[in-house]
Amino acid sequence: MTSFNNQESNELTPREIVRELDKYVIGQRNAKKSVAIALRNRWRRLQVSPSLREEIMPNNIIMIGPTGVGKTEIARRLARLSNAPFIKVEASKFTEVGYVGRDVESIIRDLTEYSVNMVKAERRVEVNDKAKALCEERILDLLLPPIRRKTPIAVGDAATTPQEDETSNTREKFRKKLREGSLDDRVIEMELPATNTPLMQVIGPMNMEEMGINMQELFGNLMPKKTKQRKLTIAEARVILTNEEAQKLIDHDAAIKDAIHRVENSGIVFLDEIDKIAGNKGQMGGPDVSREGVQRDLLPIVEGSNVTTKYGMVKTDHVLFIASGAFHVSKPSDLIPELQGRFPIRVELRSLTEDDFVKILTVPENALIKQYTALIKTEGITVHFTDDGIREVAKIASEANELVENIGARRLHTIMTTLLEEILYDAPDKIQSINITVDSELVKAKLADIVKDRDLSRYIL
Ligand SMILES: Nc1ncnc2c1ncn2[C@@H]1O[C@H](COP(=O)(O)OP(=O)(O)OP(=O)(O)O)[C@@H](O)[C@H]1O
Ligand SMILES: [Mg+2]
Repeated sequence: MTSFNNQESNELTPREIVRELDKYVIGQRNAKKSVAIALRNRWRRLQVSPSLREEIMPNNIIMIGPTGVGKTEIARRLARLSNAPFIKVEASKFTEVGYVGRDVESIIRDLTEYSVNMVKAERRVEVNDKAKALCEERILDLLLPPIRRKTPIAVGDAATTPQEDETSNTREKFRKKLREGSLDDRVIEMELPATNTPLMQVIGPMNMEEMGINMQELFGNLMPKKTKQRKLTIAEARVILTNEEAQKLIDHDAAIKDAIHRVENSGIVFLDEIDKIAGNKGQMGGPDVSREGVQRDLLPIVEGSNVTTKYGMVKTDHVLFIASGAFHVSKPSDLIPELQGRFPIRVELRSLTEDDFVKILTVPENALIKQYTALIKTEGITVHFTDDGIREVAKIASEANELVENIGARRLHTIMTTLLEEILYDAPDKIQSINITVDSELVKAKLADIVKDRDLSRYIL
């Protein structure tokens, strides 16, 4: 079995984490530092003695800031670079137990599902070479069914018969062709499991699935496994058989154990829109009752409890929760005290400025300008954005945010699509030049009128 520690051994330091986040998220230094410390603390926790380890609680965080300034982006990148099971849920999606809606425990079940898929995908890569080799043998068996020996070989007779020599020669010839891919289109016939009918899913009441009980798995195994003779090309068979062999090679029980361990020790739950379930203390009754109910439901999983999943019990004590919200109307102090206590770290993210927009457009590895340049390049056209052109886009973005509504960096998306619409539309058949320069003149020409007209910008930008 692989050690649980293989992912922790190359754990990043807080500085390295911030540096990694810097590649995608501009500014928001405080938020980055907080999440980096929280992440590192989980690794630290795993290094201390087991008795103390259980006492160390995660540094749950509330990120407070206006829309579109990088809250979700930070959490998502954090999960990706730490290779942690990650789930993002909207707190407002949940309702009190007993009401219609998702119960909060499903968060942990979904996270576990994610982790299982993640671990299995990793295992799949590990066994891939072996699975490919086994698949090759199976295809060769299908192409050249092994011949039965007519007479049993006498004991001690090690030499092969000429007949055997010949078949193994042919087998090697076929193997070579197979590897070259020259047999890919040849059709072979093989037994395949017949596809399961989804009949079973209809029977259970809706919540069966919620409770983590899969009817298909419960009863599916009781049914005789049906197989079907099918014709398919070698290329298709290779995919199916490699997969089949890989499934056999993976130790599924160990994978599940590892997946649960991962959820319990490095899982991250991102609770978006937490402000929406923070009741305004002044106005009682009405929807606030149920908001507080959701908070009370969340409490046990944030505090630490056991959740039943179809893979077994999952302890949530050390799952990291990162909550986020704009908190325009409510404040973190409007949350019930127990929940507040469970989110000891508060970080504020600030509104983005024109300078930030310039960087967001150009610096991140997935920066919009890079994305669009690459997209248009596929049509054989090189777009070049001049510095003053980029500055103009940023300026217009921040003006539109002030004028219409502050939607943060999301504004850049709407502006870029408006700016490039014509090029994107005409590129394949109308544009002759292979070089286009986008400078401030061009940006102004395309966008100035829209920005000046409030009504127009409300709809377009
Ligand atoms: N600081 C930033 N640096 C780089 N890109 C950013 C930044 N802030 C936002 N973006 C980009 O803007 C988009 C929206 O950001 P994100 O989803 O993080 O917003 P949010 O803060 O979670 O907002 P909301 O409160 O509406 O959920 C993303 O595509 C993201 O890449
Ligand atoms: Mg968000």
